[in-house]
Amino acid sequence: MKVLVTGGSGFLGAALVEALRGRGDEVVATGRDERRLRKRLPAGVTCVAWDPLEGPPPAAALSGVDAVVNLAGEPVEKGRWTKAKKARIRESRVAGTRNLVAGMLAADPKPRALVSASAIGYYGDRKQQILYEESTPAGDFLAEVCAAWEAEAWNARAGGIRTAVARIGIVLGRGGGAYPRLAKPFRFFFGGTIGQGYGWMSWIHVDDVIGILLHLLDKDLSGAFNLTAPNPVSNAEFSKTLASVLRRPCYAMVPAVALRLMLGEFATVVTSSTRVKPLRTEASGYAFKHPHLRAALQSLEA
Ligand SMILES: NC(=O)c1ccc[n+]([C@@H]2O[C@H](COP(=O)([O-])OP(=O)(O)OC[C@H]3O[C@@H](n4cnc5c(N)ncnc54)[C@H](OP(=O)(O)O)[C@@H]3O)[C@@H](O)[C@H]2O)c1
Repeated sequence: MKVLVTGGSGFLGAALVEALRGRGDEVVATGRDERRLRKRLPAGVTCVAWDPLEGPPPAAALSGVDAVVNLAGEPVEKGRWTKAKKARIRESRVAGTRNLVAGMLAADPKPRALVSASAIGYYGDRKQQILYEESTPAGDFLAEVCAAWEAEAWNARAGGIRTAVARIGIVLGRGGGAYPRLAKPFRFFFGGTIGQGYGWMSWIHVDDVIGILLHLLDKDLSGAFNLTAPNPVSNAEFSKTLASVLRRPCYAMVPAVALRLMLGEFATVVTSSTRVKPLRTEASGYAFKHPHLRAALQSLEA
């Protein structure tokens, strides 16, 4: 299969490219900076410069491609959420996906499938409610971005391309995503639960993110899929387990307001209570490699 990965220089993009190459697929990767792509990715990957805001991808990116995985987007976990940053978070995803889908629909032949990233930010802060793929979206900034991002992806389905949306949870992996920032206070001996620790954290090991993206590419699956482990945990359990795996203390009650001071508006990502179950992902036959938190964390810290 020939696969185009947008955001190929990113944390998940580079891991997916490696997995695709490892099983013998042909890969085209896009990023805004071709040199950065070449530096990050193994030889044999076709690297094409494309800024998702500038218009559809160049023909070289889509030529002969069977399927596309859309992972490009301004990082949410880095930097303060200023007005300009929030505009980049939104537009790189919403206008970026619109341009990608326009390019896919205009290609001849069209790619057969699109797997497009979204995030569990779609569900927002929902306290104890258990959230499935059919649950309604919230109304905060990230939820609105996710809903608009997904709406652009669904236009590919309307144009006859099989489309799966991957609502990704809190990814536990080395070298990217939220985990290094979550683990940092514990490594420096001042980690603790957030507030009472009642909030739910829907985590997933990076190997399962890549495993599910490949599963969505390979199987005839459409619609939204939650990319979260089947066993979400409370923040108290997450913090105690992380502290124990890192052999560090776990203090009670880091006030949410202190986190806001440290992380800015990004703190909403870690202070929101989002209890997600991967109902459609499991029903589609995907078997999780890391269903339990302790073993998932141990595999990262081994
Ligand atoms: N990792 C997680 O924990 C997580 C959780 C939920 C959802 N997701 C979603 O999954 C996708 C991939 O995540 P990731 O962790 O791999 O992200 P990442 O490491 O930040 O990579 C993002 C990719 O997008 C490109 N990019 C960055 N800023 C951009 C901008 N302003 N306009 C266009 N392209 C831009 C980057 O390439 P260039 O800078 O070279 O163009 C890079 O290849 C993202 O959309 C993210 O929101 C990730």
